[in-house]
Amino acid sequence: MNIPFRLLIAVAISVASCCVTAITHAERVSLTPAPLSVTEGSGSYTLPKGLTISTAGLTPDMAAEAPRFAEALNSATGLNATPTASPGADITISVDPSIATEGYTLSITPSGIAINASQPAGLFYAFQTILKMLPPNVMAGVLERDLAYTLPEAQIADSPRFPYRGFMLDVSRHFFDADQVKKMLDLMAAYKLNRFHWHLTDDQGWRLPVPKYPELTTVGATNQNILRTNFDAQRRWRDGRFVEYGPYAYTTDEIRDIVAYAKERHIEVIPEIDMPGHMVAAIHAYPYLSTDPESSLVPDSVAMDSEPVARNPYSHFTHNMWNIGGVSRDVLDVSKPEVMTFVQDVVDVLADLFPYEYIHIGGDECPTFAWAKSDSCQKLKKELGLDDDSGLQAWFTKQIAEYASTKHGRKIMGWNELITNHEANIPIIKPYDPVIFCWYPPKQAVATSEANGLKHVYTPANGGYYINRSYKGHDKVGAVGDGALDITYTLNPPDNQHCIGVQGTFWTEQVDRPQDLEYQALPRLIAVAEQGWSQPERKDYNDFMKRLREQESVMLDLAGYNYGRHQIVAAPADNTAQ
Ligand code: ACM
Repeated sequence: MNIPFRLLIAVAISVASCCVTAITHAERVSLTPAPLSVTEGSGSYTLPKGLTISTAGLTPDMAAEAPRFAEALNSATGLNATPTASPGADITISVDPSIATEGYTLSITPSGIAINASQPAGLFYAFQTILKMLPPNVMAGVLERDLAYTLPEAQIADSPRFPYRGFMLDVSRHFFDADQVKKMLDLMAAYKLNRFHWHLTDDQGWRLPVPKYPELTTVGATNQNILRTNFDAQRRWRDGRFVEYGPYAYTTDEIRDIVAYAKERHIEVIPEIDMPGHMVAAIHAYPYLSTDPESSLVPDSVAMDSEPVARNPYSHFTHNMWNIGGVSRDVLDVSKPEVMTFVQDVVDVLADLFPYEYIHIGGDECPTFAWAKSDSCQKLKKELGLDDDSGLQAWFTKQIAEYASTKHGRKIMGWNELITNHEANIPIIKPYDPVIFCWYPPKQAVATSEANGLKHVYTPANGGYYINRSYKGHDKVGAVGDGALDITYTLNPPDNQHCIGVQGTFWTEQVDRPQDLEYQALPRLIAVAEQGWSQPERKDYNDFMKRLREQESVMLDLAGYNYGRHQIVAAPADNTAQ
């Protein structure tokens, strides 16, 4: 993990007191997320200083996992583990094609370790399991030379319940820089999460560079103010006015670096461009994207310290950057060819930067008010024979899916409005095999996905998977809602044929600092990870809490994450991020 040097010094002092917890790990297998099956023996295996890891007979892709594991191990333990091409070694690896892509078996005996896997991902998770079974400074990446690194004798057979185990971060409402994104990726890898859903654009800020449209990441990445939480209003108010927020955007190099960093951790990055609604940042930069480019009923300066909606009901159409929560009526004009060109140009950039099967096109919360008032949208609606304005969204979605598929061989993901909207047109998008993110209302979204044979991801807004929500209404950061850990842990994903997994979703209207992001997301994201990886019969809330208290909290402390301690011990009356 990326740990600043000053933190290393700070935790080095505390590690000694962690050793008691750490060393007890050797006595029993206690893993988060809980593995499929474990049989424990009575012996143990102490890693030798010159541990060898055989890569004999492995493909280059699989062999590449060994030096990364050795480096992680060595940097935290002071051991000198090395990969070797010779067959005999302390850790041996065999390819077993019958094992699932992300699965593995691990045999730890007093004479060494034998791993079986079929793919690099499975081997990676076997190595992660070894790191996790060692004292918590190892997964935290904190050097401690004076421990005996001992593993309990055990046979482990493991494989995830779901192929999609995600974390979504909204970097539009508030921006989180590349280092913080990497810190979250480290955490995901520690808990075997494998999809980073990057919500890159919204009404409040555009964070993706698109060379043909440079103002997206200047004008479109600067807010006059940003949402007024107790905390950030204080931070942004200077000399009688709000200080500008931004411009904040990633560079192309940063994005490529993050994608590569995630790939080494077997995490696919799924970029989201939310459209045709939630597009005010782009419209602010390029007003022609709106149905009413000339509209400017409230001058920019007024919006600096006003609530636009309260001031003027028409300010939905000022094209000022949106600086409150909720939903703007100012959306893409889907009837304009130049808007479709813009969307295609954005999809081209996504296809270039993100090498995976899917791109996420949002599709949530798109009001049709603007289309109802637009002559050209009404004309298009008539030409298409639609009864309702929201049918235009289905048509728009189909255009993007078609383009992504024919031009780039990519598929789309989207929020459940794609299939639950009034006038959603499932038959025209179904051939593109979209993945549906079930957030609200989740029961209807899941049932409609399943009935139509559409893959879906479970991330209900209410019930613990929106992990920005405050804890029992106590936290001063995060959106109001019941974000209690036990709810997240016990709200099980549907046991559907087409449910491909779960996601912890993090919106940032009320969260603008890394420490608040971590405080709200943790430890609930760990509960989501266990929902995604562990079979229902392997889950046990009391055992999970014990693991959090005794092990995960130590690891999080050592690695410098600011988690919500009150979710693990008793909740104080007034919880505040530190
Ligand atoms: C959403 O929460 N608007 C997907």
